[in-house]
Amino acid sequence: MQKKRILSGMRPSGRLHLGNYAGALENWVKLQEEYDCFYFVADWHALTTNPSAAFEVKENTVQMIIDWLSAGINPELPIFVQSSVKEHAELHLIFSMLITKERLERNPTLKEQIRDLNAETTIYGHLGYPVLQAADILIYKANLVPVGEDQAPHVEITREIARKFNQIYAPVFPEPETKLTTFARLPGLDGRKMGKSNNNFILISDPPEEIAKKVRMAVTDPQKVRKGDPGRPDVCNVFKYHQKFNPEEELQIRKDCESGVLGCVVCKQNCAQKIADFFAPFREKRVYYENHLDEIHDVLNEGTKKAKAVAQKTMDEVHKAMKMG
Ligand code: TRP
Repeated sequence: MQKKRILSGMRPSGRLHLGNYAGALENWVKLQEEYDCFYFVADWHALTTNPSAAFEVKENTVQMIIDWLSAGINPELPIFVQSSVKEHAELHLIFSMLITKERLERNPTLKEQIRDLNAETTIYGHLGYPVLQAADILIYKANLVPVGEDQAPHVEITREIARKFNQIYAPVFPEPETKLTTFARLPGLDGRKMGKSNNNFILISDPPEEIAKKVRMAVTDPQKVRKGDPGRPDVCNVFKYHQKFNPEEELQIRKDCESGVLGCVVCKQNCAQKIADFFAPFREKRVYYENHLDEIHDVLNEGTKKAKAVAQKTMDEVHKAMKMG
């Protein structure tokens, strides 16, 4: 039986942090065994909230791909950059006629982003973010889209656009489904969402000293002031990291924290060590790729060829269905 196709993308944010790893990358690595996976860098999407992001796209893309490969993404897969497959842009244009502005304004993810940006006006391309995402997904006829919860509304819009196209022109597109990442969000060091702009992150490429320094600053249970005080692991950010990167000791740490036997200083040292150990093989592979950047470019060139072949075939079908183009 033919494998189902998966497509997923990340905006080029440069080196990835633990939140990116637990929320997406780890899952991508697992999925490549079972599915026909396409993974890409959504560089046009990066411009929707900041057009000057263009200047950082190249370097951030290389750093991010190094992280993907270091984490075990198979370099033989179609790995590519959105802006090098221009067909996405044409399909985006065609799709932009198949959805209303009112529908796009109802998108909860957009509303949240606009609230965070604190701006009075909305960039046209930002409103159309999910329309471009629909083009990304449908041009490869993906069946499944592994994303976090915040992206589920975009997959829903993708399904609506696919239905609309199929109904008006001809049945070209499958209706893709969301494949939600199961692991709960890893909090940042301060308990907010881990993110570059929040300055509360640990990078998967951070050296052990840096990890130790950052974990030392992490917010634990505010009621546990000194060793001996009983702690509440369920409100502690460091405990979440233990659950993820040190599952063998989770129960013991919970017990010792709650009873007060375990203080935060020692607990954090242990946690930092476990995170550093977990990513040791990644750091080693990263050094290799940093010294073989030509391989990164080869992976992207080959990936682009594979992606383009599929995208062009879909666009032929689109043109035929529309009797134009
Ligand atoms: N919007 C996604 C994010 O912010 C990135 C993305 C762009 C994407 N196009 C996609 C994800 C297509 C999955 C499929 O994370």
